[in-house]
Amino acid sequence: MPHPYQIRTFEEYKTAYQKSITDPDGFWAEVAGHFLWRRKWDKVLEWNFTEPRVEWFRGGKLNITENCLDRHIAHKADQPAILWEPNSPDEHNRTLSYKKLLEKVCQFAHVLKNNGVKKGDRVCIYMGMIPELAIAVLACARIGAIHSVVFGGFSAQSIADRLADAQAAFIVTCDGAYRGAKDIPLKSVIDDALIGNSTVKCVIVCTRTRTPVSMLKGRDLWWEEEMKRVEEQGLHFIEAEEMDAEDPLFILYTSGSTGKPKGVVHTCGGYMIWANYTFINVFQYQPGQIHFCTADIGWITGHTYILYGPLSAGATSLMFEGIPTWPDAGRFWDIIDKYKVNIFYTAPTAIRSLMGFGTAPLQGKSLSSLQVLGTVGEPINEEAWHWYDEHVGKKKCPIIDTWWQTETGGCLISNFAGVTPAVPGWATLPMPGLQMVLVDENGKEVVAEGDETVSGNLCIKAPWPAILRTTYGDHERCRTNYFATYSGMYFTGDGALRDKNGFYRITGRVDDVLNVSGHRIGTAEVENAINMHAGVIESAVVGYPHEIKGQGIYAYVIYSGNPTHEEELVRKDILQTVSRIIGAIAKPDKIQFVTGLPKTRSGKIMRRILRKIAEGETANLGDTSTLLDPGVVEEIKNGKV
Ligand code: PRX
Repeated sequence: MPHPYQIRTFEEYKTAYQKSITDPDGFWAEVAGHFLWRRKWDKVLEWNFTEPRVEWFRGGKLNITENCLDRHIAHKADQPAILWEPNSPDEHNRTLSYKKLLEKVCQFAHVLKNNGVKKGDRVCIYMGMIPELAIAVLACARIGAIHSVVFGGFSAQSIADRLADAQAAFIVTCDGAYRGAKDIPLKSVIDDALIGNSTVKCVIVCTRTRTPVSMLKGRDLWWEEEMKRVEEQGLHFIEAEEMDAEDPLFILYTSGSTGKPKGVVHTCGGYMIWANYTFINVFQYQPGQIHFCTADIGWITGHTYILYGPLSAGATSLMFEGIPTWPDAGRFWDIIDKYKVNIFYTAPTAIRSLMGFGTAPLQGKSLSSLQVLGTVGEPINEEAWHWYDEHVGKKKCPIIDTWWQTETGGCLISNFAGVTPAVPGWATLPMPGLQMVLVDENGKEVVAEGDETVSGNLCIKAPWPAILRTTYGDHERCRTNYFATYSGMYFTGDGALRDKNGFYRITGRVDDVLNVSGHRIGTAEVENAINMHAGVIESAVVGYPHEIKGQGIYAYVIYSGNPTHEEELVRKDILQTVSRIIGAIAKPDKIQFVTGLPKTRSGKIMRRILRKIAEGETANLGDTSTLLDPGVVEEIKNGKV
């Protein structure tokens, strides 16, 4: 039986899109009608972008875990919900059927309750990619606690900032995590994050690497012991907490162009519908397929397309602990063959990095189970697209280029696999319900004349169900960041082209946010971290094209004294500082020591010039006459690293 809201032809897409615009309430009510609600909503949508205030399915009551787990039990209790592949191919893999996953989620939900976690409490989750991470996330959702997953690559300081911002009293972590040949001491990072913290009452530690950890009496508990206690108490099923459609489901921190990362808040009803709707349509999921999304659950992609999307659709989701290049660059291909993966979803940076190993790691790999390929997180260059198409998809798998953001909850622009046209490098068409607009700097809508392709800043006119509702604890920040640049519109921060067919090509960020290996990093954040180093007077950070990472981080640093004698050492010290303050992912690829920065008379750094120099485009730097000291530009040009 065809899925009730799966779009199967281009014509159907056009009809659905049309209906979603002329009658959004009717359109989304029909989709929402296919989910489990404890109480039906009173109103589909209520919104204004001035405050901003967005409410979807007002008055509706539900629990997302009933939609992701309980409702599948009748028909697919024994079907794998999660297939787990460990970091090392020599270790045993694990399978959690829907029945088993529900049992484990209930059991851990009891653990959380036993330790005082209540509806609305924030639980910080800092774990490696093991099934217990999925269990912890879903257990929070089960009891209505708000999960805030922090990627395992972030530093103690970053965790401390996030804990403070979310006022989190509970943490779930692991002793350590395996990532390729590395063993990351997660609990020890948490211990550092908790120095001086007085709000965290309880840390639950799951065993993975059994690296030595310090367990603090009265605060730290072992996952395994707590689970056993629940068993001994004879506790099994736990009734899901009834949530309002607009109750927060999770917070996920992401970088912006200013200040510290923002806690993007998603809510239960709208997010669930969107995760599910986009999973079913964009990937064209068919029952029985094995879906492999290579993202980490610490990022939005993992939330939506490892957990909530696939599970709400009753799919089998493959979760991988390791990295693509260890023990060798054939790891992904081995996994695809081992599990007969049908849908493979990864980042362009991973494809480019694997391309670098040539086709040898693909030798002897069948990959014949693959039906759909996808990319996410950054623009894909045509060379990588064709390599993916030819060597991985063997030219028989449609490739979806999915554009979206932490704030959007799920895909907003993408072709539908095999259903709507694919164009290399183009994300193509918006999902139903999405009214995209391109505007110029003054906020004026860019309208094409005839068949021309136009460009502008990408904005959205009206809400879709999974739009962020606020930034945790600071609604004004949400307003100024997303809804104030262009009045009455959500501003994505991205630039885009639109062609005569209405297809979009995302050209990249137009604000001071970098996209390094598909990870968002704010230049201001990196500068603040560099400036924390004792010898640094000032710094300016820009992006530059990087063959594998998409963008690399280039830092111009004014250092007190003369670093030339020990330049390499100072560089390393600065990198260490950035690792400490943010995490290794934010380490600059290049550091150039300078004696001054190009500034306007009002003291503003002219990043445009720095960007051009970092890009190697030194001939045409544009107008430098407004600079306080134009001479500094020559020096910077000559010292380029
Ligand atoms: O610049 C866009 C880029 O990634 C940004 C969002 O980053 P994040 O919130 O970390 O979420 C990444 C995973 C959804 C966007 O503002 N981006 C994401 N997908 C694409 C993309 N750029 C081009 N093409 C894409 N498919």
